[in-house]
Amino acid sequence: MQGNEPSLNRRMFLRGAAGVLGAVAAPGLLAACTRNDAQSEASPAADPDPGTAPENLDFEAPDGGGSADGLRVGLLVPTSGVYTTLGSAMVQGFNLFVGENLDAFGGRRIETVTVDEGETPESGVEAAQRLLNEEQVDLVVGIVSSGVALNVRDLFDQGQVPLIIANAGAGALTGQARSPYLFRTSFSNAQEGYALGQYMYDNVTEQGVYLIGPDYAAGIEHLVGFRKAYEEAGGVVLRESHPAFATTEDYTPFLDEIKEIDAEAVWAFFSGAEAVRFVQQYAEAGLQDDVPLLGTPLTDENWIEAQGDAAEGVRSSLHYALDLDLDRNRQFVSAYQAAYGVMPSSFSVQAYDAAQLLALGLQATEGDTSNMEAFIEAMASIEEIDSPRGAFTLDGNRNPVQSFYLRTVEDGEIVYTEDLGVVADPLN
Ligand code: BEZ
Repeated sequence: MQGNEPSLNRRMFLRGAAGVLGAVAAPGLLAACTRNDAQSEASPAADPDPGTAPENLDFEAPDGGGSADGLRVGLLVPTSGVYTTLGSAMVQGFNLFVGENLDAFGGRRIETVTVDEGETPESGVEAAQRLLNEEQVDLVVGIVSSGVALNVRDLFDQGQVPLIIANAGAGALTGQARSPYLFRTSFSNAQEGYALGQYMYDNVTEQGVYLIGPDYAAGIEHLVGFRKAYEEAGGVVLRESHPAFATTEDYTPFLDEIKEIDAEAVWAFFSGAEAVRFVQQYAEAGLQDDVPLLGTPLTDENWIEAQGDAAEGVRSSLHYALDLDLDRNRQFVSAYQAAYGVMPSSFSVQAYDAAQLLALGLQATEGDTSNMEAFIEAMASIEEIDSPRGAFTLDGNRNPVQSFYLRTVEDGEIVYTEDLGVVADPLN
């Protein structure tokens, strides 16, 4: 059990619950109470506020909850390393849906236990093993890094434990290495990269693009997706670079290269602390005003403040925008803000929707997971998920088919700019 994980404390949750009720009238939420059995396993020293609730919040169904069987959900997210902010948003998103919809899980009481995915495949595998073997969870939600997801795939497939991937985009997991136990509520890396290819060609440059992303599956596959769409449109890529993941502190050699080859635009994949570093150094190198920077996610509600003026004008494509003009999104944003005092991001939405998928599956089986085949088939048969990002479906490989949006940073805010259309995984 990790001691330093981000948490939704009880005061914050109850304060937020009033906001949630106001915003979406979730019945029974205030009547809910939390169970602390996971806390007893957590490091007490980790909680900076002794008056707050445990770091692993468990939710109990308000009515008849005494007889409801608990469903133990492992949240496998980074609480350390370059992707920490992503993990925090995912825990919040998952908890928000559960807290809003306690009676939507087929009568099951959702108990969560969170472990740190860390930054490397090794740390992720160890954490997944802990969840499956020691914590004896019924299923797992989360995983930020493709490197981790690829390495834990067999544990879930062979152990016949459902895994709802709420971020990691490794294409193989919903492609040649798919498993009936694997679901994804985020994107495939190539799909996310693909979304901006035609836009770049039509609106920025027909040639002279420099591509950059870290040297692991996500960095490589995002670039494959972008390149495919851009070249299909007729575009010419000048060069592609892959700095070492998580350890590159100084991007100067790559920024120098962009200048040397006279690139007309840059398309980049960086996330979390890496996105902050890259965008800041891009501006410091004097490129911000001269060479348009586009990519994914690059900017995010969790780190836009840290990027400061360096992010101005950066364009990114994602399947979510905070100011998306949908009632479902407005309700979600207001509930999230009330609960946590911060804005949600795409990572929050992906985990919120993982909880929705779980709820829909449990409703279909009336809470019964004893027949695992029937339960995963029920989740696979969900026709549509009513998400804050806009309704989306899962393809036959259990990967979302969804709209992507162009977002631009203006005056320190990430603003919805245009709809890039519905994009499916272009490779699987
Ligand atoms: C990945 O490793 O798949 C990933 C990490 C951060 C953002 C998007 C994808």
